[in-house]
Amino acid sequence: MRNSLILLILLTSLFSCITKNEKIEVVEEEKVFVTYELSPMASLMERMYAESLLMKGHIVEKNTNVVVSTDFIKELEFAALTVPSDKDAFFEIQMKEFVDLYTSLESQEVIKKESYNAMIQSCLSCHQVKCTGPIERIKKLIIK
Ligand code: HEC
Repeated sequence: MRNSLILLILLTSLFSCITKNEKIEVVEEEKVFVTYELSPMASLMERMYAESLLMKGHIVEKNTNVVVSTDFIKELEFAALTVPSDKDAFFEIQMKEFVDLYTSLESQEVIKKESYNAMIQSCLSCHQVKCTGPIERIKKLIIK
């Protein structure tokens, strides 16, 4: 039981933003199964993370004419959040700033490191207030 508790604590700290959504079932005394579903917004965020990581690779390798995916941008406006009240005025302002910075990268023949880092900073500005869990992960996207 003690091991299960430690596992449970580890898992809940991993999914820091979405602890409210997870269903925890204790099946046997020694086995704990944790299942959780990502909200539409959290899934989009994972997509944004993956796109940013790809972009970071292109910039580091100095690739030209990189195709920046923007198809997910329109979904950001309507995607439901795990905690609906998180979508407040602060969120809307920060999201607009992020979208502007992100879409501005589309037109750059060689994506500038500074423009990319400014986009990642806008992820962090929102996360510092709204969802602190993934901050360390997002910081790794910054190009030094
Ligand atoms: C306007 C605010 C805002 C911006 C900008 C923003 N995020 Fe988020 N992010 C959130 C919120 C709120 C959640 C929690 C969503 C939910 O649980 O429904 C979240 C969740 C996440 C998650 C966790 C998803 C999961 O698996 O639960 C990651 C990773 C993430 N964001 C990365 C990023 C990255 C990378 C960027 C920039 C490319 C970014 N975010 C921009 C507010 C923002």
